[in-house]
Amino acid sequence: MISFHEKSVDVLYTEAELKARIAELGKQITEDYRDKDLVLLGVLKGSVFFLTDLAREIDLPLTIEFLGASSYHGGTESSGEVRITTDVSKPLKGRHVLVVEDIIDTGLTMKFLLENLSARHPASIRLCTLLEKPSRTKLPVHIDYKGFVIEDKFVVGYGLDYDEKLRNVPFIGVMKPEAIGG
Ligand code: IMP
Ligand code: MG
Repeated sequence: MISFHEKSVDVLYTEAELKARIAELGKQITEDYRDKDLVLLGVLKGSVFFLTDLAREIDLPLTIEFLGASSYHGGTESSGEVRITTDVSKPLKGRHVLVVEDIIDTGLTMKFLLENLSARHPASIRLCTLLEKPSRTKLPVHIDYKGFVIEDKFVVGYGLDYDEKLRNVPFIGVMKPEAIGG
């Protein structure tokens, strides 16, 4: 029987494809951060699925923090207004921070976050994103580690939501029109 997830979303990256790419990213990060005090800083809520899988592919004694940022007010367009809704639990000063994000779309959210985090004087700050939509860039940000580059399509699953739903779809895909009542 076809699952609810398959009925609602056309697959772009399968679970196996995500796993394989994340293993590669984890290996690279493991090499780059050896002997460093690494903090994986996930941006809530979209990055949670990616971060927990990525962390298990990094063979280092890292720590995990989360930060809540909201630039969305429903629908599929960024409002441009960014708010920090939840902050980290420990100071970042002197530590090697790797920001983990689900997707860089216009770049508005990340530009704001990187500026805000840099002001806390981490030893270094880098960015790892699962997806990038370069066709939509408004404010360019340097991406140190990226999973996949995608076309200008609104994607869901593996943490990415449509109006807070579909985050738990285990693969990444594009919503079918019937899933949004179209
Ligand atoms: P930006 O500020 O335009 O770069 O948007 C960043 C945030 O918008 C991401 O962290 C996502 O939460 C959300 N977003 C952007 N594109 C998509 C998409 O295709 N699907 C789901 N969420 C998206
Ligand atoms: Mg997000």
